[in-house]
Amino acid sequence: MFFSVLTLFPDAIRAYLDDSILGKAQAAGHIRFQLVDFRQFTGDRHFKVDDRPFGGGPGMVLKPGPIFDAIEEVEGRFGPHHRILLSPRGRTFDQEKAAELAKKQRILLLCGRYEGFDERVRQGLEWDEISLGDFILSGGEIPALTIIEAVSRLIPGVLGSEESALQDSFQSGDLLDHPHYTRPLDFHGMRVPEVLRSGNHKEIDRWRLLQRERLTEEKRRK
Ligand SMILES: C[S@@+](CC[C@H](N)C(=O)[O-])C[C@H]1O[C@@H](n2cnc3c(N)ncnc32)[C@H](O)[C@@H]1O
Repeated sequence: MFFSVLTLFPDAIRAYLDDSILGKAQAAGHIRFQLVDFRQFTGDRHFKVDDRPFGGGPGMVLKPGPIFDAIEEVEGRFGPHHRILLSPRGRTFDQEKAAELAKKQRILLLCGRYEGFDERVRQGLEWDEISLGDFILSGGEIPALTIIEAVSRLIPGVLGSEESALQDSFQSGDLLDHPHYTRPLDFHGMRVPEVLRSGNHKEIDRWRLLQRERLTEEKRRK
């Protein structure tokens, strides 16, 4: 899986991509990234990526030219990508979408800033427009990282044990994950449920499924 991230703030996301699970996944060759600063595609000596909105109003709007040129260069060099426009207007991201994206070969994520994009960025190119939810962030970098991490976890080999992705919430149907316990057995008077220490795996599976159903009912269906 190859990710191209178009951003005005590559340094803000590089450290996260190079560390922990994503860093290891890169080292093992499961995923690759390139960070493209589309400010380099302005073609003017002031590197101006934004301008005032026609019709007036506060804030600045991202010009279409540098974005189109950056995408043309990236796709000319690496081939067509599945293009994701990060925007509060898009469909809300979820695990089902992550699974769909995990089947793609190359993904491009365009991170907005300021008031967002000139509308012709949407009109002139084909996009999968995705939102993280009904709230406003200052830029698309955190949504891009969120999508990259959720998708990468589903790529075979990225997680130490593939089973741990399979049992996560939402992974099989819409059930939430069951509670987990580790040592100590007794923490401030709160004990690990006996069934988990019984060694009876049929009973443990039954308990876990009941907990998943109970939590989903409590947290999602009420
Ligand atoms: C300050 S926001 C622009 C908000 C825009 N004026 C609006 O009201 O929809 C700047 C950029 O952050 C990103 N962004 C902000 N909130 C987001 C969200 N909930 N999901 C995805 N991207 C988001 C988008 O790339 C957006 O272009």
